[in-house]
Amino acid sequence: MNQHARLDERPIPFIDVAAQRRRLGAAIDQAIARVLAHCQFIQGPEVRALEAELAAFCGARHVIGCSSGTDALLLVLMAWQVGPGDAVICPAFTFHATAEMVALLGATPVLADVAAESFNLDAESLERAVATAKRLGLRPRAVIPVDLFGLPADHDAIAAVAAAHGMLVLDDAAQAFGATYRGRKLGTLATATATSFFPAKPLGCYGDGGAVFTDDDALAARVKSLRVHGESPNDKYDALRIGITGRLDSIQAAVLIEKLKVFPEEIVARNAIAARYAEGLADVTTVPRAGNESTSVWAQYTIRLEPGRRDGLAAKLKEQGIPTAVYYAKPLHRQEAYRGFPVADGGLPVSDMLAGEVISLPMHAYLERPVQDRIIDAVRRALAG
Ligand SMILES: Cc1ncc(COP(=O)(O)O)c(C=O)c1O
Repeated sequence: MNQHARLDERPIPFIDVAAQRRRLGAAIDQAIARVLAHCQFIQGPEVRALEAELAAFCGARHVIGCSSGTDALLLVLMAWQVGPGDAVICPAFTFHATAEMVALLGATPVLADVAAESFNLDAESLERAVATAKRLGLRPRAVIPVDLFGLPADHDAIAAVAAAHGMLVLDDAAQAFGATYRGRKLGTLATATATSFFPAKPLGCYGDGGAVFTDDDALAARVKSLRVHGESPNDKYDALRIGITGRLDSIQAAVLIEKLKVFPEEIVARNAIAARYAEGLADVTTVPRAGNESTSVWAQYTIRLEPGRRDGLAAKLKEQGIPTAVYYAKPLHRQEAYRGFPVADGGLPVSDMLAGEVISLPMHAYLERPVQDRIIDAVRRALAG
């Protein structure tokens, strides 16, 4: 085997956090050192600076940094006083944190189906889920659309159904911050938006982190209070309500400020890679497309195969050092914790179908062209075989 062949068989990381670290390492090390020097580890100046920069980036009036994407969802639901007797409609094909906070607060997640092309909440199934909730005697309070894999949901269609039923919309943009829908950035499309800065996300920190985005002044004030034990804005030792410890820390904010500087460039790179994947694979498999006049940040590049072909493809790619992942083999209604919750009238056939078809390929902004070619070529050969 010659040297060239050996290089061609090097294992490829699925998401290469280290490649970005090599590019930004010194700037991030200095940003962290500044926090270590001033010692304001909690709610330090970096948190306020990051919140202002994120607001400028996406156009939201308020940004509230918090401890994770899950806590961002929780804080908004707590601020809305969602609780027992309330129904919150969630797509069944998502990461389970979307519905988890609804259930934690004693409300009922009602699971709706998704559209196969976008992987995202289907407005007709949402309408049926509202009917299901009412039939069960629940108050339909809110809907949580998810922008799965970085692809924006059909926010206008979802907002129309929500408005018709007096429901609030909490966008779970954990996988999609930076994406756009009809010319607007996520963070501005719903009553409130939650995102995650988990390290593997398109904009990730070096630990856990998240943020809430909203244009609603009263909601922002409640979320700010709730993230610090329900404190009063005038006296932190006077609790106005029951809250949590839901803050983003200064070191994570410092990391994110540095990463935000290159984020627009990284989004361009991710889109270029997605375009090359689509060009190389569209004739052998179903490739994802950002519909609804939207752009994706490609948190995942998820293709669809005929049922029964996925394991074979994953095994052949693995032999060649190419990792894959399946998001999600079990939609929520197939998971033990969510089996007892209602599903929209009409069932969840698309969620079940996608669970058997989807497989995600390596995707990150630093995936070089020869590596992209190696992946495309390997997928084509595996599917031809
Ligand atoms: C769709 C979705 N919602 C919520 C979350 C929760 O985010 P975190 O891990 O920051 O709590 C995730 C994280 O993977 C997610 O993918």
